[in-house]
Amino acid sequence: MFPNRNHDSMDDRMAQPRSVLLGSLFIVMFVISYTTANNVLVNPMIGKGSHFYLSAAIGEQLIHRGYNVTFLLGSAFENHARSSRYGHMFNWEVFKHPIPTQAVHDMFANLSKLVSASDFKLQLSIHSVLQEARLNDCRALLEDEALIGRLRAANFSVVLFDSTWVCGAMVGELLDLPYFVIFPYPNTCLVTSSQGSVFHPGYIPSMMTSYSNKMNFKERVINSLVYTLITILGPYFYAPYNELTLRFGIPDPLELLTNSKLWLVNSDFVGEFPCALAPNVIPVGGLTTRAAEKLPANIEDFIQGSGDDGIIICSFGSFLILDDSNLHVIRIFAEAFDRLPQRVIWLLKTPPPFPIPANIKILPWLPQNDILGHPQTRALFFHGGHNSYYEAIYHGVPVVVMPIYGDQYDVAPRIVHHGLGLKLDKGFLTEENLYDALHDVTTNATYSNTAKRMSSTFQDRPMRPAERAAFWIDHAIKHGTDNLEIPVHTLSIFQYYLIDVVSFISVVVIFFVYIVVKCCMLVRSRVCKFSKKPKTE
Ligand SMILES: *[C@@H]1O[C@H](CO)[C@@H](O)[C@H](O)[C@H]1NC(C)=O
Ligand SMILES: *[C@@H]1O[C@H](CO)[C@@H](O)[C@H](O)[C@H]1NC(C)=O
Ligand SMILES: *[C@@H]1O[C@H](CO)[C@@H](O)[C@H](O)[C@H]1NC(C)=O
Ligand SMILES: *[C@@H]1O[C@H](CO)[C@@H](O)[C@H](O)[C@H]1NC(C)=O
Repeated sequence: MFPNRNHDSMDDRMAQPRSVLLGSLFIVMFVISYTTANNVLVNPMIGKGSHFYLSAAIGEQLIHRGYNVTFLLGSAFENHARSSRYGHMFNWEVFKHPIPTQAVHDMFANLSKLVSASDFKLQLSIHSVLQEARLNDCRALLEDEALIGRLRAANFSVVLFDSTWVCGAMVGELLDLPYFVIFPYPNTCLVTSSQGSVFHPGYIPSMMTSYSNKMNFKERVINSLVYTLITILGPYFYAPYNELTLRFGIPDPLELLTNSKLWLVNSDFVGEFPCALAPNVIPVGGLTTRAAEKLPANIEDFIQGSGDDGIIICSFGSFLILDDSNLHVIRIFAEAFDRLPQRVIWLLKTPPPFPIPANIKILPWLPQNDILGHPQTRALFFHGGHNSYYEAIYHGVPVVVMPIYGDQYDVAPRIVHHGLGLKLDKGFLTEENLYDALHDVTTNATYSNTAKRMSSTFQDRPMRPAERAAFWIDHAIKHGTDNLEIPVHTLSIFQYYLIDVVSFISVVVIFFVYIVVKCCMLVRSRVCKFSKKPKTE
């Protein structure tokens, strides 16, 4: 490759222009790949709460890697564009919801009704209202020609979207770009089985079953049935989007998800049930975890005042809002907290209309990650939000979990299985139950020891989860993902389960056995004839 200077001057002269040419080619290629790999579009659902923070953590690391990151949000969550942390870090594009902003927020606020109601019908109706609203949002986004035109002109190299929002993949298709998906929930192998991850109902619990990975016969039967049901119902779940995919001439929604090139799953085997992942599925659980930063003075003073007893955090995100339906739940919480020796920092937008015990501080917003990292924090009482689960693991804080909705019912059995804490059933919530659970996790050293062990396992890695996510995005943009993809979706169901192969081999074996049997019968009849002969003689 390199010119041999001691040898032939002719070669030397030829080699120089060649190496200049190669060098400039390299520069041109570098510049081209630099400019085309520079812009990333992030579409974290409509920008709601935890979905935004997951993507923002990745976006921040992409910025460190020299990318130009643009967030696409719904107008109801435009406030992120003014946040002190992210406002100037990213570029912002906003689409308008077809309903007023307040209505969007009211819809999510309705989820808080589920704290006190176990009613399945209510859960279903709230869920379907939310699903329909997402579909209408998606239509509004895709129909906004000016916006799509601006996105097209921006020369993005990839779209990063949240799996709860298949619309992100549609934007990718419209712009003719590859798309990568962030999966915010547990159940890593189940949801990535389309990529070739192995989901086995014998040792991995399906969604919403509340089982651990050690199941008895009855549980395995139910688990397998639930898995089958989920597989059959999957297409129906996404069916409402077919209208849009047909109109815009793009593949159907399930196919869009399957076509996602890289899967960043917000799970980690420290807190998940182990299973075999496909190479293009990268576990990045704990995206929002980071070392604790300095707390505001009012919170720090309150914590310092707790002395050796320390504090407990009560945080139900936006799932606990003070209204008539939840008043009695909030009263039970307050009474149980009152009996504890610890102080309690409680996230609640509006303080309740009754006197609050002196050991409780109610705040409309919490720097939760920073408080979890405080050495005087003893426990977290929460609803099983997936981000909070990993923040508790990261900081080594034991928990009491009371699931309310959706994937929180999957987070809770993981907590119990790993021994990080205790689970409460919202249907049987009493002051006594809550007090006992909080008392147990703060006094029984098993929980804090487990939490510390999980924390050190989790932290003993070369990269933080958000850095790992950004690394893989960068890697996939530079080198493509062909070397990571298992061609599992090119197989039909007959090919995948080897039904064609087994049928073929069975036919061959049956034919072979048939021939052998026939031969034997022939030989026997001959032998018989032969052996009969001497008798007659
Ligand atoms: C909230 O739920 C109630 C029923 O519980 C329903 O009447 C109302 O329309 C819902 N609001 C929104 C914005 O979804
Ligand atoms: C970053 O992307 C935005 C939106 O596409 C664009 O307006 C801006 O010029 C880009 N900045 C750089 C430095 O490329
Ligand atoms: C996008 O790419 C096209 C063609 O590759 C080019 O003409 C255009 O200037 C690029 N736009 C930006 C904003 O970089
Ligand atoms: C502490 O908790 C563990 C796990 O739940 C339990 O096995 C053990 O008996 C508890 N210890 C005490 C002293 O209650």
